[in-house]
Amino acid sequence: MTKTPEDHGARFDELAAEYDDDESAEYRACADLVIDHADPTADDVVLDLGTGTGAIALALAPTADRVVGRDISEGMLDEARANAEETGLDNVAFGRGTFREPEYDGPVDVVTSNFAMHHLSDAQKRDAIAVIADLGPRTFVLGDVMFFGEPDPEEPFYSPDVDDPATVGVLADALTDAGFSLSAVEPVHEQVGVLVAERAPSAETAGERA
Ligand SMILES: C[S@@+](CC[C@H](N)C(=O)[O-])C[C@H]1O[C@@H](n2cnc3c(N)ncnc32)[C@H](O)[C@@H]1O
Repeated sequence: MTKTPEDHGARFDELAAEYDDDESAEYRACADLVIDHADPTADDVVLDLGTGTGAIALALAPTADRVVGRDISEGMLDEARANAEETGLDNVAFGRGTFREPEYDGPVDVVTSNFAMHHLSDAQKRDAIAVIADLGPRTFVLGDVMFFGEPDPEEPFYSPDVDDPATVGVLADALTDAGFSLSAVEPVHEQVGVLVAERAPSAETAGERA
């Protein structure tokens, strides 16, 4: 059964203090691709959802105008704030918010999310992607556990009792239905990858350019 955001928040509260001590090669490769593809300019506002201890948010802050990190776990957010203080970055703000209710309504140019959306059911992911599209970013970069083929049941890259990864096809459909075009699909492992979604130009904007 898919857990509620509060269940995940409570679970990550317990993991928060040790979260940064342990990262797999696949996690690192995925995070690096998310950072590379997000590539914010000096004027960009970035929203990082499921920000955890701030790995993506803090890596993007030096080149962005502002970065906003949102998470359901106060424990992870405390670690993120401590990491921000250590780096001396003052253009990052961390606060509570979920995928479906990010509790952020300012302008946003780039949305990122790494290793977090697989906690949602496929229907919830679809809702979350629609919410992200409504925020109006130019780019949404999603790194996560996702299935490029049939996952090997003997070697799941996730915890079947708490996680609910989608196939790449389900994610691609949700992204295109929400008005994005996929500009890159980066497999990292048969169960991990990065999707880069760009806002498809509206008929109006396309007309203006013609
Ligand atoms: C595996 S961590 C990844 C953290 C970070 N993005 C990274 O790359 O290290 C997953 C994070 O997603 C958060 N999370 C889970 N469900 C969420 C939801 N519905 N809304 C917002 N955050 C959520 C958890 O609290 C946790 O901090």
